[in-house]
Amino acid sequence: MPRTSPLPKAELHLHIEGTLEPELAFTLAARNGIALPYPTTQALRQAYSFTDLQSFLDLYYALMAVLRTERDFADLMAAYLERAAEQGVRHAEIFFDPQAHTARGVPIGTVIDGLAGALEKEGGRHGISGGLIMCFLRDEPAESALETFEAARPYFGVITGIGLDSAEVGHPPAAFREVYERAAAAGLRRVAHAGEEGPPAYVREALDVLGVERIDHGIRSLEDPELVARLVREQVPLTVCPLSNVRLRCVSSLAAHPLPRMLAEGLRVTVNSDDPAYFGGYADDNFAAVRAALPLTGEDERTLARNSFLAAFLDHDEPRRAR
Ligand code: ADE
Ligand code: ZN
Repeated sequence: MPRTSPLPKAELHLHIEGTLEPELAFTLAARNGIALPYPTTQALRQAYSFTDLQSFLDLYYALMAVLRTERDFADLMAAYLERAAEQGVRHAEIFFDPQAHTARGVPIGTVIDGLAGALEKEGGRHGISGGLIMCFLRDEPAESALETFEAARPYFGVITGIGLDSAEVGHPPAAFREVYERAAAAGLRRVAHAGEEGPPAYVREALDVLGVERIDHGIRSLEDPELVARLVREQVPLTVCPLSNVRLRCVSSLAAHPLPRMLAEGLRVTVNSDDPAYFGGYADDNFAAVRAALPLTGEDERTLARNSFLAAFLDHDEPRRAR
């Protein structure tokens, strides 16, 4: 029987820049007097055919050119939250890439004020709680991450944690040890992308060197049985993104996705949307896609939804830092 209302869930792996739908990109481009190298939204959508993570990142960073003002960032967040509400999202911990904006001359305060203001206002309107996770680009030098971290310090009151993203292979986590240490000292939560395209060793390093509390993606952990045993033992959450994995060719098809195996192993796995404007679906679209393609039971789906709240940085966790 088709489900009438989506399961309540937390979205824990979503890049706000990855929610930039072509229609909004064209609206912002017109507002800011920016020419896009595509004649129509349809032509832009047709470019969304990726061969790997880097082929996606090239387009993802290029399209960010339309995001310039506080209002642009607020509109992006508001549009996301409206969709998230329709998808049963009740809590969202939302990534953003400050360096991708400051490198274009957009002040970090413009980015954070726009995103945080809209998250509070529109999140309240839709009944969605949330937080912002500031990600550092791992293919940029660690010094740039440190500078960005310090530039964001005045805004730590509206930032839940830090993350690590962008091109993974050849950029192991350990280079970012210092910024993660500073984040821990500042009471910020810590996550990192690892084991998406990169090897299981990067997952270990993120845990051991960066002290992360969740692993974003982590699917390649399955290649290392000892690592799997540890992740199960420690119940480290893995924020898995099925549609993303297929569109970036980390997995050959949804039917071949390791999600059922991850659940069977006892991993604390969650289902998330990563960059939904590019990969064909938001949170519940990912649930629907895995429901259609994989042998999951209703109980599995409830486990995935429950895991999303257990893995969230909500009050049931250790006490948050004083604000
Ligand atoms: N930035 C946005 N989406 C990403 C992904 N799937 N992996 C790494 N960095 C990203
Ligand atoms: Zn991601």
